Amino acid sequence: MKKGMLASMVMIAVFMAACGGGGSKDANATDSAKSTETTAPADNSMVAPGANSAVSKGETLEAGLDCKTCHKVDMKVVGPSFKEIAAKYKPTDENIEMLAAKIISGGSGNWGTVAMTPHPDLSKDDAKEIVKYILAQK
Ligand code: HEC
Repeated sequence: MKKGMLASMVMIAVFMAACGGGGSKDANATDSAKSTETTAPADNSMVAPGANSAVSKGETLEAGLDCKTCHKVDMKVVGPSFKEIAAKYKPTDENIEMLAAKIISGGSGNWGTVAMTPHPDLSKDDAKEIVKYILAQK
């Protein structure tokens, strides 16, 4: 009789801990993870408002991708340096469009026989922002 009571008390305690404590703790953890993710870019745009924001966006996007494996700003690695690219192409709409397409589809021929890997997950708009950042490296 006594043992049975104890067992059910333990069951109730476990049930309450699982529903109350455990549940709300998880919700808090995902909440705070989400809020740091969403506040980071918002803070960035506060720090760099106005004229620089397009360049900053391209630079931020580029920093999160694999470009640096093959490109440096002022040194040829596997691909041409960003300064070489900026010297070769004027930042016209046509060039920005063409280079954005090239980043997405990859390929070779303009600098040699080594090919750039394709980046199919990159949107055209984001690729254009990156091209604008690259063509500003003079
Ligand atoms: C595997 C190495 C590699 C990676 C990763 C890479 N590139 Fe390239 N990239 C190259 C090579 C090689 C070329 C030269 C292609 C050619 O000869 O047409 C190139 C060329 C370019 C060009 C000039 C294209 C042209 O036709 O003149 C741009 C702009 C460029 N890369 C941007 C990027 C960006 C932005 C990223 C990241 C999203 C990136 N690359 C990632 C190797 C790479």
